[in-house]
Amino acid sequence: MAGRQAAVALLRRGLGSLAEQAGPQRKVAILGAAGGIGQPLGLLMKLNPLVSHLALYDIVGTPGVAADISHVNTRAHVSGYAGEEQLGEALKGADVIIIPAGVPRKPGMTRDDLFNINAGIVKALATAIAKYAPHALVNVISNPVNSTVPIAAEVFKKAGTYDPKRLFGVTTLDVIRARTFYASKKNLPVKDVDVPVVGGHAGITILPLFSQATPQVPITQEEIEYLTKRTQDGGTEVVQAKAGKGSATLSMAYAGAHFADACLKGLNGVENVVECSYVESTVTDLPFFSSKVHIGKNGVEKIYDLGPLSDYEQQGLKDLHVELAKSIVKGQTFVHDNP
Ligand code: NAI
Repeated sequence: MAGRQAAVALLRRGLGSLAEQAGPQRKVAILGAAGGIGQPLGLLMKLNPLVSHLALYDIVGTPGVAADISHVNTRAHVSGYAGEEQLGEALKGADVIIIPAGVPRKPGMTRDDLFNINAGIVKALATAIAKYAPHALVNVISNPVNSTVPIAAEVFKKAGTYDPKRLFGVTTLDVIRARTFYASKKNLPVKDVDVPVVGGHAGITILPLFSQATPQVPITQEEIEYLTKRTQDGGTEVVQAKAGKGSATLSMAYAGAHFADACLKGLNGVENVVECSYVESTVTDLPFFSSKVHIGKNGVEKIYDLGPLSDYEQQGLKDLHVELAKSIVKGQTFVHDNP
């Protein structure tokens, strides 16, 4: 009993200190909020003291999810929106919009196999964002990210609202996996580890830069190749383990919440917010590319160069070029062919 009281007191103190950190009013909207990613992501955003209003939107199921999450005693007011006619209300006034809407992979599928369904979903949601929340920072999780981000960009361009500084493909899960696998392989405390991951978010387009990992420890070429492949195949590892019941949801919710938190911090003027993200870029000759970006009050403030690459990473960069270029064009073409 005494233990339970102590735990309750600790929890109260924790939540109290969270409330003290609260800053300006910030609305976050999650589109696809009743799904495998959407539900835990909604919960994690409800725990974020930077959020004052959490809008949960899906085509079905959101009233239940919203009622459930709303009982958690943290700062954010929660509202649920179900069905297209409520999408505008969900979006109005949003500072950050997170999109995990769409179908996930099943064993044997690539992210590109999702294109036909998810392209239409992202296009429709981007059209509504252009109308109701054109200044929000948009975090695209729906796969294939390599194509869905160019799709959103084309929709925004057509609507005359495109600001490349405000559109992000969420590749944070790749970074989180690279950190976890590197720490585990080299017996390092994972909290001290960072590994930049550049390129895109599918198969060989995911390029972890272990030559720039921190802390630097002796590592063999064989270990680098193992870690690179495991990072690239991390999603497939989960798809296979779930055996037909979807893809990464819990680790993705964590990654999505981490990235949205970075966006909120940037908007709030916190300095030195740097994350890897798939954005419009001139770092390579590809129009979209993931690398380290500085997020500030206007979204992307600066995109960092790739830095010195090992021979192995340079080869990886060459190898990903054709596939990433094709995925970008596929997204752009989809919007032009489906006006
Ligand atoms: P899920 O099927 O469990 O949930 C998707 C949700 O989207 C459902 O609740 C569904 O009703 C909703 N939805 C469908 N059409 C919609 C629309 N027009 N508007 C709003 N909501 C709509 O799928 P899960 O596992 O949550 O995955 C969602 C997406 O995230 C998939 O495309 C998946 O490939 C992607 N993903 C991305 C990752 C990344 O690293 N960027 C990692 C893991 C998954």
